[in-house]
Amino acid sequence: MKKLVSLMLIGAMAVSLVGCGGSKKGETVQEGKLIMATNAEFPPYEFYEGDKVVGIDAEISAAIAEKLGLELQIEDMAFDAIVTSVTSGKADIGAAGMTVTEDRKKNVAFTDTYATASQVVIVKEGSDIKTPDDLTGKTIGVQLGTTGDIYCGDIEGATIERYNKGFEAVQSLQTDKVEAVVIDEQPAKVFVEQNEGLQILPDKFTEEEYAIAVNKENTALVEKINTALAELKESGELDKIVDKYISADAE
Ligand code: ARG
Repeated sequence: MKKLVSLMLIGAMAVSLVGCGGSKKGETVQEGKLIMATNAEFPPYEFYEGDKVVGIDAEISAAIAEKLGLELQIEDMAFDAIVTSVTSGKADIGAAGMTVTEDRKKNVAFTDTYATASQVVIVKEGSDIKTPDDLTGKTIGVQLGTTGDIYCGDIEGATIERYNKGFEAVQSLQTDKVEAVVIDEQPAKVFVEQNEGLQILPDKFTEEEYAIAVNKENTALVEKINTALAELKESGELDKIVDKYISADAE
């Protein structure tokens, strides 16, 4: 009898440990919710339509949340705050056209990738910068904390101007404060379309892959998201979301 009581006690303790909230393995920060940290300055992946954040990442995350039986909640913040908000347990996922890098892997876990991407160079039409090699010694605008920012640091003699928003870098190009902007290809296309007299260099600067960032402790969530992503790829739903925002003829 004594044995049974103590077994029951251990059982009760185990239950209360599991039930104590916080970022337990396999669960989310807030029960029933999937909190997504993003930086909604990055069309077509995340941007505002009225006061709503829409775009490829918003829709993929909503589809994942639905498969997980969770309600998606989007938190908009500076790009360089996203990783911290995932590591500190404020958000469950970072979905922000985020490139998988070895450095970021030290702080967060990445799901399987869902898109290939690249950094491109935007210049004014008629610029003497014709290829990425011509960036040596130039003044280059980037979005703070992005791979564009990180990789431009390797360009000899270049001066890097960092902006909180990608389009602010593009505005600086328009007003000749910078001579080039290095940014992801899809937002580059949107910005060039919206602004006169700009062009994207034909040679790309890097090849990259996007994935969703998750807290390293939360391997169960990574697995669940990977399963959901695989289903979305398999069913064609992922392609459908991408096609809605990126027209094939714009490739
Ligand atoms: N792909 C780049 C990176 O991971 C830029 C991403 C910027 N995303 C954003 N939502 N502002 O560094």
